[in-house]
Amino acid sequence: MNQNQTPILEAIEAFTEKKPAYFNIPGHRMERGISRRWTDRVGTEIFSYDLTEAAGLDDLHHPEGAILKAQQLAAEVFGARKSFFLVNGTTCGNEAMVLSCAGEGEKLLVPRNVHKSVMMGMILSGARPVYVMPEYSDNRGIWGSLKPETVQRAFEKEPDIRGLLLVSPTYYGVCSDLQALSEICHAHGAMLLVDEAHGAHLYFSDKLPMGALRRGADLCAQSIHKVTGSLTQSSMLHIGSSLPDEGRVRANLQLVQSTSPSYLLMASLDAARYELALHGSEMMKRAAALAERARAAIRKLKGISCIEPGEEPEVFSELDITRLTFSAKELGISGFALQEILFERFGVSTELADYGNVLAVLTYANTKEDVDRLSGALAVLAEEGDTGRKCIDPLPLPGIPPMELTPREAYFQAKRSVPWRDAAGKIAAEMLCPYPPGIPLVYPGEMVTQEIWDYMDRYRREGHPFHGPADEKLEWFQIVDS
Ligand SMILES: Cc1ncc(COP(=O)(O)O)c(C=O)c1O
Repeated sequence: MNQNQTPILEAIEAFTEKKPAYFNIPGHRMERGISRRWTDRVGTEIFSYDLTEAAGLDDLHHPEGAILKAQQLAAEVFGARKSFFLVNGTTCGNEAMVLSCAGEGEKLLVPRNVHKSVMMGMILSGARPVYVMPEYSDNRGIWGSLKPETVQRAFEKEPDIRGLLLVSPTYYGVCSDLQALSEICHAHGAMLLVDEAHGAHLYFSDKLPMGALRRGADLCAQSIHKVTGSLTQSSMLHIGSSLPDEGRVRANLQLVQSTSPSYLLMASLDAARYELALHGSEMMKRAAALAERARAAIRKLKGISCIEPGEEPEVFSELDITRLTFSAKELGISGFALQEILFERFGVSTELADYGNVLAVLTYANTKEDVDRLSGALAVLAEEGDTGRKCIDPLPLPGIPPMELTPREAYFQAKRSVPWRDAAGKIAAEMLCPYPPGIPLVYPGEMVTQEIWDYMDRYRREGHPFHGPADEKLEWFQIVDS
């Protein structure tokens, strides 16, 4: 196909050039109805792209024109059989993948470090999760790859598993051996579903691990907005093989997406695909070169270290070098403190922090100046030397708690609130999920073990953010009323 086209942008522009008297939704009438408070600052042009399914603009839920063509162009770029544009992020992509693989009571193999949207998908579908643990680096305090041996063992124990849904790369850029995992899944008649929210750029550089669609994924969801240039909330879901039922995937996407999909988001996907198709390899070459520059500078600093490719190969099977996970623990600066210092003192904003690490996400759109500000700030801290403070090490990660009810059963069960201090030993009716990086310690339907309670209590007392409980302070916790 001719990748030089932008069907959605072109359709919108053809429509607006007619200067129609507009009686559709949205009611702001391109820009006239938007607050001056906003347009004075950002201009008006962008608002003329915020339209609806008007003449010639197609329909995301039944695409036949511009949207269909834009999706076909995307499928070609990523090497998918079929691609779908998503306006509710990879959150809805993950939900649709679960729904397309495992229905009520059917088993889905899920590593514990999946994003919470996978649990939301299981609440919708009624799937019965079979949990496995990915590798964990005690040294770095982060999750690693999911080992093929772990998956093989799970299939031997539970041969009726319908599919494996894993995240690769993780937030920290850790990839798993997807080729081996897809072979195991397929040998057991199961599907491989990959949450590739953080990996749409992997298709454009041989300095990066290979993308999931090239390694046997049957379904794959990508947040194009995260590192490949579209607007926040815009993602894609790809079908990679003949295993998924395309009709079911379509129907599931209708379940989890708005009936008023944003044309701004869809246009941004069209534009991002265009850039990736025409310039993707230069873009990712730039990102990789920036990452090398940052890594080279950080390597010289005393007391600061960055996770490097090849480190702990048993834990990190492959690493995306554009994710910089660094630690200043040796200087007595925790990850949380380092993130704050970087922003407050040096104006350097990073994606997330944990006890030991800070994560900086580097993309093709960063500049050398950005990188030098980051490494320069770290150099100042290294120069200042040991703060003499003691960093707390993360508690040993809690083990997988017993599952008493599936996520869906627990979700619809009667609940009651108990003081958090009494929650240990009870069946959770809500999730406990430190965020970032969004990895639940407890899913609804699982037991809050003492180990999990201790872990979460410390996290809460130290004031770190978490998702899940209705009571944001976690003074109260909802349990299943038994
Ligand atoms: C691993 C992972 N999967 C899925 C998501 C959800 O993606 P989105 O923000 O596109 O909805 C995130 C969000 O951060 C994520 O980190």
